Amino acid sequence: MVAIEVVRGDITSLEVDAIVNAANSSLMGGGGVDGAIHRAAGPSLLEECRAIVARQGGCPPGEAVMTGAGDLKATVVIHTVGPVWQPGEGDRLDPILASCYTTSLRLAADAGCRSIAFPNISTGVYGYPKDRAADVAVGAVRSLVAGRGGGSIERILFVCFDDDNAELYEARVAASG
Ligand code: APR
Repeated sequence: MVAIEVVRGDITSLEVDAIVNAANSSLMGGGGVDGAIHRAAGPSLLEECRAIVARQGGCPPGEAVMTGAGDLKATVVIHTVGPVWQPGEGDRLDPILASCYTTSLRLAADAGCRSIAFPNISTGVYGYPKDRAADVAVGAVRSLVAGRGGGSIERILFVCFDDDNAELYEARVAASG
């Protein structure tokens, strides 16, 4: 049985095996949760990202790469790139956002992780409507777990940095439980 939980606060403080970063395609860091994770993890994270980019280029939206976690309490950081919101394009962008969650879960499971924490991907700088993003995120996670795609994963946390998102995710996780 996989536990799906909603927590409020700073993702960098969590003791989980995998922390998911809402990165950009360059993988060179940024603001928001990307900036917080790089600051808390220390310079080794950027060094690993640079090596990945040198090897395989940047990370397209919907895909994810995995690094160590530097000074974070986690074991790995999974950097995924959400879609930038464009009004009227939701039907095309939703599957890309869903892929951020499913691809990150698969990478974490392949690495034998038992717990993973997600920020609310694309709902900050990338401007995704929070309610729509919450529907996509919870739906994608629920369907992957239902299909036993979670492998070693036992705990999935949605980490909400603001009250709006916390209410949205609590309602959706409860409704789909
Ligand atoms: N812990 C948890 N969540 C956080 C934290 C934190 N420390 N800091 C910010 N957040 C939340 C934001 O409030 C938002 O709900 O993470 C969510 C995602 O917002 P962004 O970090 O802006 O990410 P996103 O919208 O996906 O935009 C990605 O922003 O920081 C840049 O380099 C990043 O270019 C990329 C873009």
